[in-house]
Amino acid sequence: MNIRVAVSGSGRMGRTVGEAVSAAADMQLVAYIDSLVPAGMLDATPLFESPQAAFSATSPDVVVDFTNAEWTPHLTGAAVAAGVRPVIGTSGLSPQYLESLASACRSAKLGGVVASNFALGAVLMMHFAKLAAPYFESAEIIELHHDQKVDAPSGTAVTTAQMMRAARDAAFSHRAPEKLTLPGSRGAESGGVAIHSVRLPGLVAHQEVLFGGLAQTLSIRHDSTGRDSFMPGVLLAVRAVMEKDRLIVGLDSLLGLS
Ligand SMILES: NC(=O)c1ccc[n+]([C@@H]2O[C@H](COP(=O)([O-])OP(=O)(O)OC[C@H]3O[C@@H](n4cnc5c(N)ncnc54)[C@H](O)[C@@H]3O)[C@@H](O)[C@H]2O)c1
Repeated sequence: MNIRVAVSGSGRMGRTVGEAVSAAADMQLVAYIDSLVPAGMLDATPLFESPQAAFSATSPDVVVDFTNAEWTPHLTGAAVAAGVRPVIGTSGLSPQYLESLASACRSAKLGGVVASNFALGAVLMMHFAKLAAPYFESAEIIELHHDQKVDAPSGTAVTTAQMMRAARDAAFSHRAPEKLTLPGSRGAESGGVAIHSVRLPGLVAHQEVLFGGLAQTLSIRHDSTGRDSFMPGVLLAVRAVMEKDRLIVGLDSLLGLS
């Protein structure tokens, strides 16, 4: 099969996806879409400002989006209307938007994937954290990313905390100290899981989940050391949406983990 793929976003992730799609034997990169960049050519591929124009000119089967939470709803609205299957990696998307996208895909019988982390090792890290969650009373997440990341905490950290909370009967025990000498030093909190965000040049995407119990701790850590780490997961999702008729959230089911 030759899957025609458009890439939404010509930033760091968009270009890496474009290269990975071009190198895949069963895929063809047909367009880039970026509303913030003047239309033209990018690495010998047409670049469109408007999704509608890109879809009608190049008839993609799938559009892969790594942009910004403000833009993704515009992109997917046009994609679903044109029968183009969305594969979304953009972070910071609201639960309400994800509900509406799931409903639109269901009505159109269109496959789609949204994943807060396409690195297969990160999917496993989240799965292992979910398995460990019922056995410890306390847990914290430290997520570390490059200093250009626009949002905090990372979508992966929020998803991990939600998965961990859903795997147990009650929230984790979140200890607040009697005195906070610096506000915010205990991090954010979700389901009793403290989340700490580190932003530094030199980092890519990293996360450590720490569990604490009686006289023991358990640490589960994943490191993406380059953006290539996300590409096997993205290509897996591009192939999978061709066979689906609804929106899949996360890669777990595609990897046989749920
Ligand atoms: N799910 C994952 O595995 C994963 C992995 C890495 C990055 N991400 C996410 O992917 C997204 C892109 O990351 P990046 O490192 O490529 O960022 P980047 O800044 O290099 O590129 C962002 C792209 O989005 C476009 N864009 C930004 N704001 C826009 C707006 N308001 N309207 C239209 N277009 C807009 C820019 O023109 C650019 O092409 C981020 O949300 C990031 O958190 C997800």
